[in-house]
Parts: sequence; structure tokens; C-alpha cells
Amino acid sequence: MEKAAPVAFASAKMRALKEDELFPSTPGKFKIERSHQFHRQYQRCFASSTTIFLWVIFLIALTASFLSFQPFLSSSSRLSSAHSWGGLQWERQVRVSASPRRPSGLTVLVTGAAGFIGSHCSLALRKRGDGIVGLDNFNSYYDPSLKKARRSHLSSHSIFIVDGDINDARLLSKLFDIVPFSHVLHLAAQAGVRYAIENPSSYIHSNIAGLVTLLEAVKSADPQPAFIWASSSSVYGLNDIVPFSESHRTDRPASLYAATKKAGEEITHTYNHIHGLSITGLRFFTVYGPWGRPDMAYFFFTKAILAGKPITIYRGRDGLNLARDFTYIDDIVRGCLAALDTAGKSTGSGGKKRGAAPYRIFNLGNTSPVNVPTLVSILERHLKLKAKKHVIEMPSNGDVPFTHANITLAMAELGYKPTTNIDAGLKKFVKWYISYYGHAARGIFKTNL
Ligand SMILES: NC(=O)c1ccc[n+]([C@@H]2O[C@H](COP(=O)([O-])OP(=O)(O)OC[C@H]3O[C@@H](n4cnc5c(N)ncnc54)[C@H](O)[C@@H]3O)[C@@H](O)[C@H]2O)c1
Repeated sequence: MEKAAPVAFASAKMRALKEDELFPSTPGKFKIERSHQFHRQYQRCFASSTTIFLWVIFLIALTASFLSFQPFLSSSSRLSSAHSWGGLQWERQVRVSASPRRPSGLTVLVTGAAGFIGSHCSLALRKRGDGIVGLDNFNSYYDPSLKKARRSHLSSHSIFIVDGDINDARLLSKLFDIVPFSHVLHLAAQAGVRYAIENPSSYIHSNIAGLVTLLEAVKSADPQPAFIWASSSSVYGLNDIVPFSESHRTDRPASLYAATKKAGEEITHTYNHIHGLSITGLRFFTVYGPWGRPDMAYFFFTKAILAGKPITIYRGRDGLNLARDFTYIDDIVRGCLAALDTAGKSTGSGGKKRGAAPYRIFNLGNTSPVNVPTLVSILERHLKLKAKKHVIEMPSNGDVPFTHANITLAMAELGYKPTTNIDAGLKKFVKWYISYYGHAARGIFKTNL
């Protein structure tokens, strides 16, 4: 106890008590009246040498603990998210990946680059000669090995994905210090509607807190990039006027996911208004295709059908089939690139607004909703297998009964025009699925032909 007393870990109260004992401020606190004079001097002498000794120990302990915590403090954000970044080699990879390969090419930070849409957009940007740096935290919402496979694919096209979180302000500041990004294509998010029931805070972490951390970095960057980001058709929520148009109500979300995307639209508006950031929000409608997301129905239906397992099909409460405006990935990528190319400049610099900047919102859909039984029958045809269907009434899980995009605005301002119908798109998806998941899937596929 004596040895431990001066060490910093004791509570403040304990420390005060010990210090009082060691350094009596009033003589009355040390009851030594009955002691011999020599004994008293000895006591005083002993007390003062003990005091000095303990102070020395205390200072050494304090210095040692500060030094040992120093690396943790300087990289606390990295440790908290268990990612690693930094160093000369890392900076070189970032710079090389960010360099455009064509005159006046864009320099784009793509968040969520290891994700489904992010990986496709990154590749398309690189193919036309733009510079790209990806950022992704490789979380395990769905199988991270698929994200890593996408990363390897991008790496073979000289695209570097930084392993980090959009909540890491130090990392973002470093990236904007190293690279003068012209655009940010922000696709990182906690996607999926149903998972919010299980893990609501992941939506707040990525779609609200992460968005604000990223916008803070973008706002402070000099030059200030244009900001293009993924909102969602889910913001239409309980709207039942079809097709969904950008001018319709979006204040009745049916899920936490939708609420965070709607909040994102409001948050980006304030950064446009206060800081002069050029903002484009893209409301994607059920994107599907090769390298897609395993949590989406077309993907896990395929897996189950190939494995001979039953699939659950939800039907609306009124007996109507659920329908989605399925949009093929290549059409979405063209929409994203058009949004990047037409985005006006941010007017601010280093956090100071210099004038009004554009604030745009576009639907990117296919304008031709497909109901779930039709989706399944197309999959059955391409897989040459019959699905074991289990139809039940849709539970209250945040899903809306249908989506249908009006894309007039995107056609007029982005030249957006979807060209892939669901049959052609699913055919490409099935081909990719069989080739990606290899022999096991193909084995089942062949035996059931
Ligand atoms: N796919 C669709 O049908 C669809 C529809 C509407 C909107 N969207 C939106 O489009 C964007 C891309 O969707 P997707 O289908 O490619 O999803 P995805 O999950 O495949 O991609 C998102 C990526 O972001 C990463 N990520 C998540 N949180 C992060 C964080 N805090 N820091 C760094 N990285 C993080 C994930 O690891 C993932 O790789 C998302 O914003 C999504 O909400 C998608």
C-alpha cells in the first residue's frame, strides 16, 4: 500500500488522503507529541527522505506511463478501429493510385471502394484514366472475403484501397494533405434495411457520424472537392405516389436505414449552405449484378436455389406481391460517373465559403419494377433449377412494398439512360456467381440440369 500510494492509478480521493498523510499541512495531523525529541527529528528526517523517494518514484512512474501510452495516443483512432495506415510506403501507394492517367483526369476519393457499387465505380474511373484512392473498413456485415476479392481485383488495376474507417478524422486529414482530391464519391455506409433491428448503432456509426466526420474533412480541404454520395430510394418510405419523383415527400421513412439516408440528405444540405460544398445525392434503386451484395434477395435466392434449399418469399399484407425497381450495376456506374462529371465546383476553401454551390438530388433507377415471383422465375430459368418456394406475409421489418423510380431529372441533367433489363442483368449475375463460387456451386448446378 505504501509503495502503491504515490502511483498515478490511485483514485483522486486516495491520493489526496495519502498526500495529506505524507505532507501534513497542520502539525495536528501528525500525533507525535509524546515522542522523544531525537525520535521526532528522526521521524521528520525519515518522513522527508521517504517523501522525496516517493515523489521520485511517482515522477518516474508518470513519465514511464506517459511514454508507454504515447504510441497509443498518437494512433488511438487507428487502434480503436483496428486498421493500419501510415508510413512512407503507404503514402507512396496513395499518391501513385491517386494520379490520373489522362490529361485533366479526375482525382477521386472513393469511400466504400471494396463494396459492391464502390468497386465497380472505381474500376470504371480507372479505365477512363482517372486517379482513385479507395477507403474501406472491410467490416463483416457480409463476408469480408468478398470485399478482399474485390480489392485484389482493383489492385490488379493499380487501385489502392486504404484500410480505414470514415470516422477516423486523422486518417482523412492525412489523405487530404497528401492528395488534392477533385471529387469524393462517398459510397461507404451501413447498407441493408433488416439488419437495423439487430444492430441499429452500426447505421449511426457509418451513415451519420461517419458522414459528418467525412464532410468535416472535405470542408476543411484545400482544394475543396465536390461531394457525390449515395442516398437511397428508401427515403421515399411510405410514399405511395408512383413513380417516385425527387419532388415527392421523403419525411416518412419506414426503416432506420432510410432515416439515416434522409438525415444524410439534410446534413449534406447544411454543408452546402454553410461551407459552399458542391453536393450531389444519388437515390439508388435496388442495384444488382456481378460482385453483388450477399445480403440482397437475388443473391441469397441464387445461393439457396443452387443448394436445393427453400427460399422465403414475402407477400404484401393485401396479398400483393412485393416489387422492386431493380437497376443493373453498369447503369448505376454510368449514372455515378455522369454525376461526377457534371458536379459543379465547391466554392469554399479551407473551410470558408466563397459563394453558392450546387445542391442536387437524383433518382437512379430502372423505371420498370419487377415483382419477387418474376425475379425468382428468371433466376430459375438462368440456373436451370426449380426453387422451393415458401411464401409468407411480409413481417414488419422496414421493407416497403414496392419502389419505382421516375428518372426524368437524371435523364435531363446527367444524360442517364438505363439499358439493361432484368433478364439480361440476372443472366450476367448468374454467370459471375457460378464462376466466382467455383466448383461447389457448379457441381450442384450440373447435377440438377
Ligand atoms: N446496392 C443497393 O441496392 C443500394 C441501394 C440504395 C443505396 N445504396 C447505397 O449505396 C452505397 C453502396 O452500397 P453497396 O451496395 O455497394 O454496399 P456495400 O455494403 O457492398 O458497400 C459499402 C462499403 O462501405 C464499407 N463501409 C461501411 N461502413 C464504413 C465505414 N464506417 N468506414 C469505411 N468503410 C465503410 C463496407 O465495408 C462496404 O465495403 C451505400 O451507401 C448504400 O447505402 C445501395
